[in-house]
Amino acid sequence: MKQNTPLGIVIAVGNQKGGTGKTTNSVHIAAALGLRGYRCLIVDLDPAAGATRHLGVPENSFAGSLELLTTDETVQTPVITDDLPRGVHLVPSRPQLSELDVLLSKFVDRTCILDRPLALARQLYDFVFLDTPPSAAATTTVAAYASSEWFLLSAFPHPLSLGGLTEAFNDIADVRARRKPVPHKFNLLPPVRNRSCVLPLQHIQLAD
Ligand SMILES: Nc1ncnc2c1ncn2[C@@H]1O[C@H](COP(=O)(O)OP(=O)(O)OP(=O)(O)O)[C@@H](O)[C@H]1O
Ligand SMILES: [Mg+2]
Repeated sequence: MKQNTPLGIVIAVGNQKGGTGKTTNSVHIAAALGLRGYRCLIVDLDPAAGATRHLGVPENSFAGSLELLTTDETVQTPVITDDLPRGVHLVPSRPQLSELDVLLSKFVDRTCILDRPLALARQLYDFVFLDTPPSAAATTTVAAYASSEWFLLSAFPHPLSLGGLTEAFNDIADVRARRKPVPHKFNLLPPVRNRSCVLPLQHIQLAD
């Protein structure tokens, strides 16, 4: 249950393959944790705004992750707290996030752009979910992989989909090789299709 001091766990939800359940897992796991009393933040880092739309927030109506990454705003400014599942807050996204690279200074280290906003988010929330777009090369994916200590990779139980996980592992390793070494852990969460049971999480801790 919720403690006075937030847990401050940041989870990058990834896999560059599209439609593998990244957004669904982010929203539903955050909502489940929220029901159990944990304070959860979802940061929508996808210009397609899947998490924003999934939570019923109208696109283009709010400032969000674009402002968080290109200004000095803290997470407390763009965060949406009303009419969301219990315990869940959202930094929304919108299509203009695709212009992020143009708006960022060429002198900014792309791997570090989430560090400042996440420093405060870790103090306010138990779990922070970074919902990434289906592109390993996207600036927000690179930043999420660089700044998280936990990774939740979604894949269908199909050889091609699972093969994509190898690419995701390599992408994460590449990004983190450029940052100071920090401990990190992986969870594999296969989407459950046409089944009534929930597959157990396979928890793999990789040696650095
Ligand atoms: N566990 C599941 N069981 C059945 N359907 C699922 C499950 N998880 C996700 N889906 C469905 O799969 C589709 C893609 O899910 P989702 O949008 O979460 O994927 P995504 O990885 O975020 O996609 P994108 O890469 O485009 O952002 C949606 O229609 C969603 O309802
Ligand atoms: Mg998505």
